[in-house]
Amino acid sequence: MTARLWFGGDYNPEQWDAATWAADDALMREARVNTATVGVFSWSLLEPEEGRFEFGWLDDVLDRLHRGGVRVVLATPTASPPPWFTLAHPDAMPVTADGTRLWHGSRDTYCAAAPAYRAAARRIAGELARRYARHPALALWHVHNEYGTVCWCDHAARAFRDWLSRRYGRGQAGLDALNESWGTAFWSQHYSAWEQVLPPRATQWRPNPSQVLDYRRFWSDELLAAFREQREQIRRHAPAAPVTTNVMLPDYQVLDAWAWGRETDVVAVDHYLSSPGPEGHVDIAFCGDRARSWGGGRPWLLMEQATNLIYAGDRILAKEPGRMLRDTLGYLARGADSALFFQWRASPAGAEMFHAAMVPHAGPDSRVFREVADLGLVIERLGEVAGATVAAQAGVVWDPDSWWAMESQRFTSADLGYLGEVRDAHAALWRAGVVTDFVRQDAGLAAYPLVLAPALYLTTDAGIGALTRYVAGGGHLVMSLASGMVDARNHAHRGGTPGGLRDVLGIWVEEFCPLPRDAAVALSDGAAGTVWSERVRTGTAEVVASYAEGPLAGQPAITRNAYGDGVAWYVSTRLPAAAQDRLIGDAAAGAGVGPVVPGAPPGLEAVRRHGENGRTWLFVLNHAGTASLVPARGTELLSGRRVNGVLEVAPGAVAVVREERADGSREERAARP
Ligand code: GAL
Repeated sequence: MTARLWFGGDYNPEQWDAATWAADDALMREARVNTATVGVFSWSLLEPEEGRFEFGWLDDVLDRLHRGGVRVVLATPTASPPPWFTLAHPDAMPVTADGTRLWHGSRDTYCAAAPAYRAAARRIAGELARRYARHPALALWHVHNEYGTVCWCDHAARAFRDWLSRRYGRGQAGLDALNESWGTAFWSQHYSAWEQVLPPRATQWRPNPSQVLDYRRFWSDELLAAFREQREQIRRHAPAAPVTTNVMLPDYQVLDAWAWGRETDVVAVDHYLSSPGPEGHVDIAFCGDRARSWGGGRPWLLMEQATNLIYAGDRILAKEPGRMLRDTLGYLARGADSALFFQWRASPAGAEMFHAAMVPHAGPDSRVFREVADLGLVIERLGEVAGATVAAQAGVVWDPDSWWAMESQRFTSADLGYLGEVRDAHAALWRAGVVTDFVRQDAGLAAYPLVLAPALYLTTDAGIGALTRYVAGGGHLVMSLASGMVDARNHAHRGGTPGGLRDVLGIWVEEFCPLPRDAAVALSDGAAGTVWSERVRTGTAEVVASYAEGPLAGQPAITRNAYGDGVAWYVSTRLPAAAQDRLIGDAAAGAGVGPVVPGAPPGLEAVRRHGENGRTWLFVLNHAGTASLVPARGTELLSGRRVNGVLEVAPGAVAVVREERADGSREERAARP
């Protein structure tokens, strides 16, 4: 891939006539668009009948984009099989947990475990790769779109049994292991033959949580297998071309992103803002940090965002002027090497005709297009940042198994959710100005002075080992409520929670005590916990704060334990932001972790990207309503102005400073072409 930042979006010229194509060419030039994602939903035009392909129109699109200097991200169209496919292969349509078979008429109507679907997907991917492998516009293969459809049909059941027999073993021995792992002695669920084992379809009451967890693991793997097959087809014809797929953030639960991050040449994510307020900025950081971490710290691609709209639940809100720029720099600050949108030109018809676009229905004489064109110029000016990485000081454990397992047992408290707890922990670090990576529970954590493991509901033996070694070796760990309640099988840990981490934390939890809706429990330090509380028994830990009222009055709420060369905190209730900030502040100070810009006022976000030869760029985003002064020295790239010690950032404004070294010497010349 070339070093410049990618700017552009999904381009669907098949929805337009030739006159519009010519207008698009000119507008793309005007907006400095350098990248277009093509073909995402084009299957029915590319293969109008089974086995008959029509590539002529796509040839024209790629040639035209190439002439205009626009690189192409070429998608395989397998997220939306054509109507002929449904009629030819009705068994390959997805079936919901309650047995309803879905039909075409929307998109994502496929079962990834259905042999006919897999064969058709391989075929179209292979044909596309054969035809375009050497096209000069081609920069990246974009397999599928947001893998996500889950299915409970008979094909899925067969594939699930295969997956289970690989996990537990074949034949009777495997079945015995499965019965043990799923705890089938409960509620008469013992399986006496493999054919009896099914996906967790709609059932009378609560499903078996171990079965549900395994199904989630299986389905992520099944989708990944479908992705790999397409990737292999592509590589047969185009061995060197990078391949990715776009993952929807932040609350898509279907994929184990760690596994997917390893399989893609570059991580690509889609993110649509859902909050107009400060939560929106933090959410961008949350998504950016996750995307970067899944790729092992490599720069990643923001494949889709919305230009001017915020999808706030039951309504769409407009972003205020300037917000698109600030949001985009939020992604770039955290390691994105692209600013791509869904989509270039608003669709004239269809279910998303009022979705945001770079060229809105109003046309180019619009606020949105003017901001897009201004952004294109900014992206060009920031081109030297491409490829630079981000150094984080803190890690937050991201554990899909904990998410899936907690969702399988929601009856403990409807207010407790894994994603919410992880978000809260990340947000506290954001407010502290500390840049955060996400980490696996069983990863080597020594690189991070501070690690947060919020609501790590499921702990594995490897995870317990890694967290223990981390603290013993001098790490600072903050663990919180409902951690270690189950093991890798989704069985309750016996002998108190957090299972296996008793020595490290110097405590154990005897009883969990969820709080009533909207209730709060006062703590001895003046804060009030919500959602959850626990009866904590201390061993070697010191009590930092206790419950001050209710059935747990006088019992520890927050503890701190010196273990080996490190420290482990435990927080047994949900803290309000101010109390969490105090706690994270103390833990960070103990770990020697500080903000990127010391003393930065609330709402000022600062992140540094690191390039070759020690070059650095300081991204500053002022989300606050007042101007901020930030110590900096170098060249501000948006304006081209020198910064001689103090950078003033107006309310809502952004700046990127190519920094000079502390001794005042000028930055080195660009090392890359
Ligand atoms: C994404 C998807 C796009 C478009 C967009 C806007 O999830 O990849 O195709 O639908 O959302 O809703």
